[in-house]
Amino acid sequence: MKRSVINRYLRSAAEFFDSMDFKLPPFAFFSIADWKKHKADVTEVFDLSLGWDITDFGTGDFEKTGLLLFTIRNGRLGDASYPKPYAEKIMMVREQQVTPMHFHTHKMEDIINRGGGDLVITMHHSDANGGTTDAPVTVSVDGMRRTVKAGGTLRLKPGESITLPQKLYHTFHAENGNAMVGEVSMVNDDSGDNRFLKPMGRFPALDEDEAPVYLLCNDYNKFV
Ligand SMILES: [Fe+2]
Repeated sequence: MKRSVINRYLRSAAEFFDSMDFKLPPFAFFSIADWKKHKADVTEVFDLSLGWDITDFGTGDFEKTGLLLFTIRNGRLGDASYPKPYAEKIMMVREQQVTPMHFHTHKMEDIINRGGGDLVITMHHSDANGGTTDAPVTVSVDGMRRTVKAGGTLRLKPGESITLPQKLYHTFHAENGNAMVGEVSMVNDDSGDNRFLKPMGRFPALDEDEAPVYLLCNDYNKFV
């Protein structure tokens, strides 16, 4: 992805979150000079990859298949320096933009529609080989049990949330506008805990055609 395009999406997301009255922590808006100034005190941010994150899942078509998010808090399994057992993210899911089918081996997560459009989630149970099964899926939506057929969908309106247990395949997209989506979960480990039904890329290759407006969580080593 071109850095200029990433900058445009980051600005758009920052405006979107602000318009929904969801405020990000100060480091969301740090300049490179700010990061350098605070470098000695932000090892937690760097070590846990907190902050802005954008991916097109290696497809080269972010608007169709991609996700922009901000990791607000996280811990690290088995690391006494970061004992926090929970994580929180805020995401901008663009209208019709798909996050591909995946599950998490360790992480249980609640996905929350915090405002904007609808969030449409499609789910499958996984089998022992990482495939999908035909079994119906029962989940908790705000404490209410809901059952859909295998590959069935649930539509979360603003304010609604769903609990996704481990190893339950899920894919989602927004309809009727861009959706601001929260995630409250167990510790997040994108490097080892995500299983995609079809193999996907993670961080897009960057074409540095302009300076970054905000650093991404995989930029810190490069720029600070
Ligand atoms: Fe997930």
